[in-house]
Amino acid sequence: MSYPIYEKLTQLPNDIVALEDYQRLAPDFIPEPVYTYIRSGGADEHTLRRNSDAFNALSLYNRVLVDFDQANTHTQLLGECFRHPILLAPVAHQGLVHTDAELATAQAADALEAGLICSTLASKPMEQIAANTTAPKWFQLYFQASRQHTKTLVERAAASGYTALVVTVDVPINGLRNPIQRSGFQLPDNIQAINTASKSQSPVELNPEQSIIFQGLMSEAPTWRDIEWLRQNTQLPIILKGISHPKDAQRALSLGIDGFVVSNHGGRSLDTLPATIDMLPAIRQIVGDTIPVLLDGGVRRGTDIFKALALGADAVLIGRPQIYALAVAGALGVAHMLKLLRDELEVTMALCGCPTLKDINPDCLFKPKA
Ligand code: FNR
Ligand code: LAC
Repeated sequence: MSYPIYEKLTQLPNDIVALEDYQRLAPDFIPEPVYTYIRSGGADEHTLRRNSDAFNALSLYNRVLVDFDQANTHTQLLGECFRHPILLAPVAHQGLVHTDAELATAQAADALEAGLICSTLASKPMEQIAANTTAPKWFQLYFQASRQHTKTLVERAAASGYTALVVTVDVPINGLRNPIQRSGFQLPDNIQAINTASKSQSPVELNPEQSIIFQGLMSEAPTWRDIEWLRQNTQLPIILKGISHPKDAQRALSLGIDGFVVSNHGGRSLDTLPATIDMLPAIRQIVGDTIPVLLDGGVRRGTDIFKALALGADAVLIGRPQIYALAVAGALGVAHMLKLLRDELEVTMALCGCPTLKDINPDCLFKPKA
């Protein structure tokens, strides 16, 4: 079984003016089950909706008559310079929507000087992806069933120029993916996570008292011990992605973790988690000012980026829109999507009177009197 790849636009129509236009067009460029795989969230999709509803519920204050002569969107994360605080989130299996897959995405990241986070489940060799962009790049790590396989991935990432590991911890098992089940989506044989060693063929033998979830699927899930092990086995900075509880952030800090991505996996894992923007302030408070905290989930507008920065994020990650743009117009589409966001962020900073990212703070948000 395989899904067809449709031809891409080579010129952008005038009516693509915002990220939602790529989502509007995407169903014309990918088969329905693939679209559902990308778009959907877990179970009843409450968290998926909350992510964007919570951004929209926040209001901004405009500020006037500020000088923008020296304005810029530069920032530093883990000692690296970023032209703007917008990174491409790790998104698996990009070969589903484009034959060049992550190679095209990396080309767009390079053109727009956007940070890229390569998924463990990429459809192209991680070395080739890295070679396609000179912008900062990090490797997203899913722990493998064997430590040796995990170690091999980490060593390959370091050798090919990825400068940090983003360890995703919020999907030790898949959440309930009911919309995907209803669509009949299945990962086709021609789309492989080619950077990982093939799965062990011997499933755990369970007795009738044991749970297929606890003793079965969860038996290969990482624990805090694996984070300690990883800390001892790599020089690369480690960022945890998918932390929502302040106590987990605290524990991670005590193990020497270098950064966090506040994420609910785009609403794809545990349904009814809060919106990420609502979880952000507590995490920022617990980790202090010096540790990078990034956020993803529902970031679709420059105003969303601005609000995330106002509430304590250093940068944001963009998930689904990069895949919609890749499906519609390949590298050109992803580059254009990033440009739209950059421009929107700059417009927002201009209208909110913030010439640099450091000027963006909670006072930029309008708080109605209780
Ligand atoms: C993801 N995400 C994800 N995260 C991760 O750490 N490794 C991965 O391989 C993937 N794969 C993946 C595939 C698809 C199709 C989607 C939509 C998402 C989650 C991703 O990095 C990010 O957290 C969310 O997508 C952010 O939310 P938005 O921007 O999609 O709303
Ligand atoms: C997903 C996995 C691949 O969200 O992280 O589909």
